[in-house]
Amino acid sequence: MEQQRGQWSGRLGFILAAAGSAVGLGNLWKFPYIAWENNGGAFVLVYIIAVAIVGIPIMMAETLLGRRGKRDPIGTFRALAAGKRGARLWPGVGVLGVITGVIILSYYSVIAGWTLRYIGMAISGHLGELARQPDGLSGFFLGFIGSGDQQVLWTFCFMAATTLVVVFGVQNGIERAARILMPVLFSLLVVLVIYAMTMAGFGKAMAFIFRPNFGELTRGGVLEAVGHSFFTLSLGMGVMLTYGSYMRKQDSIPRAAVTISILDTVIAIMACMIMYSIIFSYDMPVAKSSAILFTTLPAVFFQMPGGALISALFYLLVAFAALTSTISLLEVVSSYAIDELGWQRRKATLTVAAAIFAFGILSALSVGGSDAPGNPTLSHINIIGRESTEGFFGTMDYLASNWCLPVGGFLIALFTGWALTRRETQEELEEGHGLMRFFPLWRFLIKFAAPAAVGAIIVSVILGAEYQ
Ligand code: PHE
Repeated sequence: MEQQRGQWSGRLGFILAAAGSAVGLGNLWKFPYIAWENNGGAFVLVYIIAVAIVGIPIMMAETLLGRRGKRDPIGTFRALAAGKRGARLWPGVGVLGVITGVIILSYYSVIAGWTLRYIGMAISGHLGELARQPDGLSGFFLGFIGSGDQQVLWTFCFMAATTLVVVFGVQNGIERAARILMPVLFSLLVVLVIYAMTMAGFGKAMAFIFRPNFGELTRGGVLEAVGHSFFTLSLGMGVMLTYGSYMRKQDSIPRAAVTISILDTVIAIMACMIMYSIIFSYDMPVAKSSAILFTTLPAVFFQMPGGALISALFYLLVAFAALTSTISLLEVVSSYAIDELGWQRRKATLTVAAAIFAFGILSALSVGGSDAPGNPTLSHINIIGRESTEGFFGTMDYLASNWCLPVGGFLIALFTGWALTRRETQEELEEGHGLMRFFPLWRFLIKFAAPAAVGAIIVSVILGAEYQ
């Protein structure tokens, strides 16, 4: 049976699915954490500039490649590079993307699984009990991540949820999930932001986020801001390319890219407003690890009226955000099996998901430090952080965030800016958009500014300069 290629039902379908991919643990956990480490203000500003001059142009590039190629990342590069110089090498960028998808999904689903456990804990009232005991939360957390069975179980649950959505395909699975989850997620965030506004620390939080002090900004901070713009916008590995391949010709790529990027950035800043208000109001010590989300925050939630409800909503929100991201990661790899190997969607998705889950067991077993000597400690657990390469989990994360995404993004910018002709790119960007006034600016950014900025990250990684 000839499979029909999936397509979004319309403009909103693409925007919601792509925003769903972009908004994830990167926004709700990572950004508040790194912005905090980098003293807010100036870092936030640099990050916004990075999104504008590197993120948005590359998102437009990836989407246009996908819509033009109408295939998975590998097939798209093969089709678009045909007859050009290096035609045989370019599909390698797609291969890198698919491999990166496998890597990121394998460890991202482990952390995502934690949120499921915590939703249950919040609802059952268990979390509240722990919050009342000294060291109750951190003791539980360490025991939880140190238990291999638990880790594998919850990773499995999250992968199963992800697979269930992707099996249903582009419109009935991915788009439908995003149409439900994204508005709920946004509403929950708005509720929490309003709640934060009533807190004593809100003013301080806003000043911390929006008052730049350039004296506090380091070179490493600048590079980290650029690097994070890739991760948070899901760029550099073919998510936007794959989602772009399901986009209709009558929808505007530039408008979609700008909308998605603004939404993603606003949500990251809202997450900061919520967390910093809590930190400033309750004068919490800030742990320098992922544990903030699972130990410090619940402690605070239960100092507030309605703690059980707030914490349940909060973990639900994080789970939803993570789910729409894992869906996109799985879709990249599945689309490869569908388009390149000619498999049916169901077979492709189930097989690929099973393989990634099997691989992810290595990460699941390493988060608690079972492959690190000694007892698990809070300090070496680090979600999507860059400093920890300890353990399998840390290595996968380091590889993906420091190498795969920047290198992928760099090559995507080079391909779109230099291998494709001006006419090819202009035609695709203006299709469904009309005359694009900013086309020359986009072309300048994609040819020069984006490769230069991303190149700087890659060089700094090679030279071993921490962009932390
Ligand atoms: N953008 C997602 C986040 O912020 C993570 C992600 C990266 C998803 C790369 C897909 C591809 O959490």
